[in-house]
Amino acid sequence: MGKLKFAIVGCGRIAYKHVEALVHHHLQAELVATCDVVLEQAASKAQQYVDKMQEQSLGVAMPQVYTDYGQLLQSNVAIDVIVIATESGKHADISMACLTAKKHVIVEKPMALSTQDADDMILCAQENDVKLCVSHQNRFNLPIKKLRQAVESGRFGRIFAGNARILWNRNENYYTQAPWRGTYAQDGGCLMNQCIHNIDLLQWMLGGEITKVQGMVANYLHPYIEAEDYGSIQLQFKNGAIGNVEGTVCVYPQNLEETLTILGEKGTVVIGGPALNKVVVWQFADEQDNLAQIQAECNHDIDNVYGWGHTPLYADMIDSIRCNRHPLIDGVEGKKSMSIILHAYLANRLQQTVDFT
Ligand SMILES: NC(=O)c1ccc[n+]([C@@H]2O[C@H](COP(=O)([O-])OP(=O)(O)OC[C@H]3O[C@@H](n4cnc5c(N)ncnc54)[C@H](O)[C@@H]3O)[C@@H](O)[C@H]2O)c1
Repeated sequence: MGKLKFAIVGCGRIAYKHVEALVHHHLQAELVATCDVVLEQAASKAQQYVDKMQEQSLGVAMPQVYTDYGQLLQSNVAIDVIVIATESGKHADISMACLTAKKHVIVEKPMALSTQDADDMILCAQENDVKLCVSHQNRFNLPIKKLRQAVESGRFGRIFAGNARILWNRNENYYTQAPWRGTYAQDGGCLMNQCIHNIDLLQWMLGGEITKVQGMVANYLHPYIEAEDYGSIQLQFKNGAIGNVEGTVCVYPQNLEETLTILGEKGTVVIGGPALNKVVVWQFADEQDNLAQIQAECNHDIDNVYGWGHTPLYADMIDSIRCNRHPLIDGVEGKKSMSIILHAYLANRLQQTVDFT
C-alpha cells in the first residue's frame, strides 16, 4: 500500500495540529487537499503543509484547495482519509457525507452534538467498511498511557473513585473569535468544548458501564454566551465506582490546572500539568516503581493545551487502516464522553439524577 492520501475540511485554529501530524508521518501519509468555506484559510493551510515539508528538505505537491466539501468529494482527487475540523455542530453532517463516500474519517472532538448523530456515524462507518476516529488525543499522552497500563494490570486493586478537574480561563476575546463558540447548536459550553478530553479519560480509567449521571451547570461570568461556563458532574458506574467532574473557564486570572485523579484500594495517581502531561502523584502498594522514575519516563513539556497527541493519534489511525482494525478511539469510544455531557445537561434541566442510556 502506498502513502495514504489525506484531506482536511475546516482549516481554523486546530488544523495546524493535523498538518504537523501529517508532516511527521510523511513516509506513510500525504496531504492532497484542504477545504474551508473561507478560501484564504484553506489556501494558507495548504501552504503551511508545503512550507513545513520544505523545512525538512522534503519536496511535495501543493494540496488542492476547495471551499465546498461536496466538490472535494466529487472531484477526481484520490483521497483515503478526511479530517473534519470545522465547528462541532457540523461534524455529523460532514462525517456522514465523507463516510458514505467510503472515506476514512478523523473527526475532531466532540464527534457530534447528539447521541443520535453519533450512532448514525458509527453505523455509517460500519456499513461502508471505513474507519472512524475521534480526536481525543490526550489518550496518547505518556502519563496517561502509563496510568492506563497500571489500571489494566490491576495495580490499583479496586478502583473506587476518580476526579477530573479542568480549571481554566477563557475570556471574551476567545468567544468573539468565532460566533459558533458557546452556542448549543454548534459547540456547547465548557463541558462539551474544554472538559470533554478529561471526561473521556476519567470514564476510560474508571471503566465499564455508567448507570447514573447527576449534573449541574451555570453561566457565571460569560453573559455573552448561551451555554455554561461552569459544570459539575457526578457519575455512578455499574462497578460501584464514582466519578466527579469539575470544569470551568472562569478561573481568575488564567488557566490554573487540569488534573485527573484515580483512587484505588492499593494505588493513588494524580496526572496534572497544563494538559495532563505530568505525573504529580504515583503511589502503589506493590512499590514496583516510584514517582521520580515515572516522572523521568513520562513527563513532557507542551507548547499549549492541545498537547502533542495528534501525532500518535495519526500513527494509530494509519495502523488501523493498514491492519484493518478499529482505531483506539473509534466512534463507540468517542461517543462516551459526549454522551456523558449530554446526560449532565439533561440532569441539570430536569433537576434530578438521570439514568445513563
Ligand atoms: N482536539 C483538540 O484538542 C481540539 C482543540 C481545539 C479545537 N478542537 C475542535 O476542533 C473543531 C474546530 O475548532 P477550531 O478552534 O479550529 O475552530 P475555528 O473556528 O478556528 O475553525 C473552524 C474552521 O472551519 C471552517 N468551516 C466551517 N464550516 C465549514 C464547512 N462547511 N466546510 C469547510 N470548512 C468549514 C471555518 O471557516 C473555520 O476556518 C471544533 O470542533 C473544536 O471543538 C479540538
